[in-house]
Amino acid sequence: MFLLTGRKVSCVSVHLEADSDDDNGDDNDADNHDASDDDNDGDSDDASNDDNDGDSDDANNDDSDGDIDDAGSDDNDDANEEPCTLQWSPKLQLLLSCYGSPLQRFMQLRQNNSEVICSQILWLKRSFVLRACSHGAGIVAPLTIGFLGGGQMCEALLGGLLAQGTAEASKALVSEPVEARRAYLESKFGVRTTASNAEVVSSMGAGGVVVLAVKPQVASAALSGLNLGSDSPLFVSIMAGVTLQKLADMGLRRVARTMPNTPALVGLGASAYVLGPGALPTDGAIVEKVMSAVGVCEKLGDEKLLDAVTGLSGSGPAYVYMMIEAMADGGVRNGLTRDVALKLAAQTVMGAAKMTIAGDKHPAQLRNAVESPGGTTIAGTTTLEATGFRNAVISAVTAAKERATELGKI
Ligand SMILES: NC(=O)c1ccc[n+]([C@@H]2O[C@H](COP(=O)([O-])OP(=O)(O)OC[C@H]3O[C@@H](n4cnc5c(N)ncnc54)[C@H](OP(=O)(O)O)[C@@H]3O)[C@@H](O)[C@H]2O)c1
Repeated sequence: MFLLTGRKVSCVSVHLEADSDDDNGDDNDADNHDASDDDNDGDSDDASNDDNDGDSDDANNDDSDGDIDDAGSDDNDDANEEPCTLQWSPKLQLLLSCYGSPLQRFMQLRQNNSEVICSQILWLKRSFVLRACSHGAGIVAPLTIGFLGGGQMCEALLGGLLAQGTAEASKALVSEPVEARRAYLESKFGVRTTASNAEVVSSMGAGGVVVLAVKPQVASAALSGLNLGSDSPLFVSIMAGVTLQKLADMGLRRVARTMPNTPALVGLGASAYVLGPGALPTDGAIVEKVMSAVGVCEKLGDEKLLDAVTGLSGSGPAYVYMMIEAMADGGVRNGLTRDVALKLAAQTVMGAAKMTIAGDKHPAQLRNAVESPGGTTIAGTTTLEATGFRNAVISAVTAAKERATELGKI
């Protein structure tokens, strides 16, 4: 048993005792690191933010070496402070019920003694608030999520979900036929894998989500023989061109269809989704949670609009690559080296995109702001207009949309 600090912490004080594992210094060490690792905001003084007594080193991880005794004995400032007393506020009970497992890993809570571990409680409180905020209002448990197909998109989505804390590795299961790929995913993410699609579906249950991340041509085989009864998980299909009707024909009722794009692989995807008729009212929020792990996600009211999304953001990266190539060619034409030209072109596209996304200005306003009278930019944009640049891009989106519609009928 150890006394961490007697600091007053708002209305919360708790009596805590290390569990038997903590008798071993190594365990203790690891547990403390776990705690700080879970706090992904990189803010080393997180806990102190919640402490209003003005002592900036409060509850800081000075004791992150795991030597919890340090915190009580070395912090002389605390010597004269009164131990705080436990008040089981509803918020604290909620917090502990949400984070009971990690807490129990390194300590046992005892109500009848007066030792306090304020720093851990504050960390838990902060972590709780961060996660609640990052997932919208309310308390959101990590998703229980499975993947059919452990390829590129699975890797991108899983990576995003785990990084954000939207899913936990221990609650994720991936089915993938290739053994080497399973081993790779296990070692990269610490998730479980299997060769059985049925195992993924049956282990998710009605509260879980299964992402259909196989190629469209193997979808039917991947779904055959599965138990898709009333306790079916929510299926989220990312397969291009596989309509809700086709998914229903394969036996899926509770299903959403999404259209992601390749920048999802670097966490900057743009996707949209529609819910199938058998989806639950709460399923939209779950789909958004999954897809926002790797970018932005928009809800559509009509499945037909997914073809427009395919033409715009699904195929769109290719148009932008062409733009980057062409700009770089222009730089080379005028004397820059290929390397320098490509770097400047790509960075220019990224910067302009960020200005558009971040700002409150329409792209036309941003453009006008750099088109000084008689200047260089207006000379360039006038040339783009004369060569039909806008029309070329609009026509490209439309042609890709029409092709998506055609492919959906096959
Ligand atoms: N990549 C993108 O940017 C992107 C964008 C939009 C939509 N999508 C859609 O996302 C889906 C996945 O794309 P991806 O790029 O991730 O493809 P991928 O890398 O080929 O991944 C698919 C994985 O599924 C495995 N698989 C094959 N048959 C299976 C079965 N019966 N059961 C379970 N797994 C099976 C494949 O194994 P094998 O290697 O042995 O075949 C492969 O590892 C596709 O439907 C695609 O249309 C992708």
